[in-house]
Amino acid sequence: MKKSDIVRTLLKNRYRHAPLHSSATAYAPSNIALCKYWGKRDQELNLPVTSSLSISLANKGSFTELSLTQNPNDVVFVNGQQLDLNSSFGKRLQAYFDLFRVKSSLFFETNIKTNIPIGAGLASSACGFASMVMALNALFGWELKENELSILARLGSGSASRSLWHGFVEWRAGEQSDGLDSFGELIADTWPEFCVGLLIITEAEKEISSRVAMQRTVTTSPLYSAWPLKVKNDLSTLKRAIGSKDFRLLGETAESNALTMHATMLSAWPPVFYALPETITLMKKIWALREQGFMLFFTQDAGPNLKLLFLEKDAEAVQREFPHVDIIKPFKQTSKE
Ligand code: PMV
Repeated sequence: MKKSDIVRTLLKNRYRHAPLHSSATAYAPSNIALCKYWGKRDQELNLPVTSSLSISLANKGSFTELSLTQNPNDVVFVNGQQLDLNSSFGKRLQAYFDLFRVKSSLFFETNIKTNIPIGAGLASSACGFASMVMALNALFGWELKENELSILARLGSGSASRSLWHGFVEWRAGEQSDGLDSFGELIADTWPEFCVGLLIITEAEKEISSRVAMQRTVTTSPLYSAWPLKVKNDLSTLKRAIGSKDFRLLGETAESNALTMHATMLSAWPPVFYALPETITLMKKIWALREQGFMLFFTQDAGPNLKLLFLEKDAEAVQREFPHVDIIKPFKQTSKE
């Protein structure tokens, strides 16, 4: 099935209707998975092998301003710099816009402003595509439901399906081949004391994209067959931990889930190893602090940077131990800038 079939199905009689406005803006937070999405059952539609669960990063995310342009082509600015449309991200964006181009002479000028490093494993594509879908929805006046927006965001990047909300979000894998049952859903529980700390080791773009790394893991890792069961168990444990505000259970489960995901990559061939020496040093420091009774856990995505998980009462100590940490309070800082 093609992406354009899904767009046509979702938009029904609104498909190929002209935009209602000449410009629109939207914000979406970035998100960090506590139970990871790693592996696709459909590469075209970004359908995952398993469900996943994330926490949104409040005021860390992307603003997208979308307007119609008289230019005979799309123009994209990322943080004020014009994007080369022949670059791999440029091509990906244009292909995405093609899905919504009501006539071949309709072009978009897009201004994406993001306050997290791009392509460094901090879910910049997640908040980028989610904010773009919200801006498209406003520009065209589609009035789509959240689950439908989540499906459209997924067509841009899998993890974008979780970036439409603040708080904890579960992305249900779904079973259908058209993926119309594969979208994010907000988990109602809030946890005001919950904190995430970004430990940025490098802002450099990753050497291997999550798209390529994921596929290589699915096709070559002898450990991948254990992953769906691990996710099934971790997901139900995480939901229980969120429901009962059991922070230790949440932290242990999230950290173990991330390490298991990286173990599947390490056993892929050629191996995928996102850690840098500093990543390992930091992990050991976190484990040593935990030995001393500190309630501090980490998670790691497709990059060398770590994200710390802790409660607000420990924020000062975390700042002291990791002077460069950027602390986010997902339930307290949801203002947009
Ligand atoms: O959505 P993608 O293609 O950027 O993949 C995201 C993969 C991880 O960040 C490693 C895990 C996740 O669930 O976000």
